[in-house]
Amino acid sequence: MQAKVKAHTNIALIKYWGKRNEQLFLPTNNSISITLDRFYTTTSVTFQEGLTADQFMLDGKEIQGMELQKIKTFLDLIRNKANKQLFAIVESVNNVPTAAGFASSASGYAALAAAASKAIGLNLNEEELSIIARQGSGSASRSVYGGYVEWQKGEKEDGTDSYATQIMPADKWDLSILSVMVEAKEKKVLSREGMKRTVNTSSFYQAWLDTIDEDLIAARQGIKNRDFELLGTVLERNALKMHATTLASNPPFLYWTGATVDVMHEVEALREEGILSYFTIDAGPNVKVICQPKDETIVKERLEQLNCVQQIFVCHPGPGVEYL
Ligand code: DP6
Repeated sequence: MQAKVKAHTNIALIKYWGKRNEQLFLPTNNSISITLDRFYTTTSVTFQEGLTADQFMLDGKEIQGMELQKIKTFLDLIRNKANKQLFAIVESVNNVPTAAGFASSASGYAALAAAASKAIGLNLNEEELSIIARQGSGSASRSVYGGYVEWQKGEKEDGTDSYATQIMPADKWDLSILSVMVEAKEKKVLSREGMKRTVNTSSFYQAWLDTIDEDLIAARQGIKNRDFELLGTVLERNALKMHATTLASNPPFLYWTGATVDVMHEVEALREEGILSYFTIDAGPNVKVICQPKDETIVKERLEQLNCVQQIFVCHPGPGVEYL
């Protein structure tokens, strides 16, 4: 009753920003992402007779308290589905710079969902796996698949139609995604808390909802036609809109620092010189810059010249969950 899985992080091009049901992790809108090749979590799960509680080791350290409780609650979903009440040993290793706007929760819960369901003997298809992963962290629903992925918000209130599907495999279109690290500190407002405050209080949230469909249509079209300018333009606009909703929340909050803005300005300057590149930002100060592989070296060099930039990780579209 053991399985080991590797799952990669993903970066949202059209953001998941708000839940309509917090318990079931049902989002207010569809989102679109690219699964990345460079950052991943490897997780092994062993269900064993004789254990009296779940155990969780993260990067070689035994985890207790709230974090262990979250894993236990998540494993309960899988135990109930399999109708087997056995405790497990979970060992995870993160190959992700944690808490710096690189979503290790996405790769973490995708890997845990796949490893635990396999170990307990459930034979789930990708959609069923995505539904389970979603209930650990929404963005994890997308990391089940490689390449270009869309998470369907679904219509049902039981969540059975809220799962991700692949739009296009990774090898159909190579892009360069530069993770530009300007700060490695813990985030001030976690994404879960930030999206909740936004949904409940932001006077711009209705505008987010009113314009999401046009962004989704443009992004899908950009991906399918491999139209970089169309995709880049809409992903940048969507990121700015998401951050605008936080500014109109009560109390308002902002994930950017001065360094974030410096990177944004440099991307704009590159574009003015004819080098197409676009930025997106999640619930933290770091920036992801997306460009075409032919421009990767020049974009990286230019961003490295900024004083505020600490490190740049170059990623490309990567695979979905892999059973090891
Ligand atoms: C800004 O998936 O981390 O990165 O479902 O509460 O665990 P929970 O949130 P999470 O939120 C990700 C928010 C985002 C945008 C995105 O990845 O789509």
